Amino acid sequence: MIMPRAQGPVAPGRTDRRLRSFYRLHAPIYDQTRWAFLFGRAKAIDSLNLRPGNSALEVGCGTGLNFALLRSAVGPDGFVIGIDCSEQMLARAQRRIARLGWSNVAVRQASVPPLDLEICFDAVLFSYSLTMIECWEQALARAARLLKPGGTLGVLDFGQFRSWPWPAGPIIQGWLRLNQVHTPRPVARHMGECLDDVHCHSKLGGYYFIATGRGR
Ligand SMILES: C[S@@+](CC[C@H](N)C(=O)[O-])C[C@H]1O[C@@H](n2cnc3c(N)ncnc32)[C@H](O)[C@@H]1O
Repeated sequence: MIMPRAQGPVAPGRTDRRLRSFYRLHAPIYDQTRWAFLFGRAKAIDSLNLRPGNSALEVGCGTGLNFALLRSAVGPDGFVIGIDCSEQMLARAQRRIARLGWSNVAVRQASVPPLDLEICFDAVLFSYSLTMIECWEQALARAARLLKPGGTLGVLDFGQFRSWPWPAGPIIQGWLRLNQVHTPRPVARHMGECLDDVHCHSKLGGYYFIATGRGR
């Protein structure tokens, strides 16, 4: 499979300064800390229905914690592209790719939206990134356009803690807001506007959700 242009020069893009300075601080401790509260990776990647030889895009890929699972789903003949606005997070993703010798995984720096890529994908994943992206509706709509017909867009993210006893939900949501995460977003409803066959599964009483939809 031919890899698209994705490891070329850094695209400047419109980047969110606050988010980038947040991840400048958090990148060094990201991999050591996020296992404790970012759940559902394997289930979310399963729900993308990737097959050997497929292509996958992760929007807001961070340090590349999902790359091993995505790569094993697409196999050696498929490929994975990650996009992120933070150079510190991407530097770690690059190091992971180099250390593990993954020739079919590549990253590109860009702030989303826009999502200007020259190819379409079998699957697009937002893993704990959509609730941080300011223009998230536009990001979803753009990502949906990058899907091959029938391809899957998956979103894994924090939910709205609906079944948690009061005041646990609002306290956690407040803490998430301080960490640039905005949970009161009607993600599944918006997915329905640009994708077919949208399903959303809430887990752990609304701690996180996995939503999927098919490209038109
Ligand atoms: C919580 S991390 C998730 C990283 C990875 N997907 C994971 O599951 O571990 C969120 C990532 O989204 C990136 N991000 C947030 N807003 C973005 C935007 N508008 N464009 C590109 N990347 C963005 C951040 O830089 C950060 O690396």
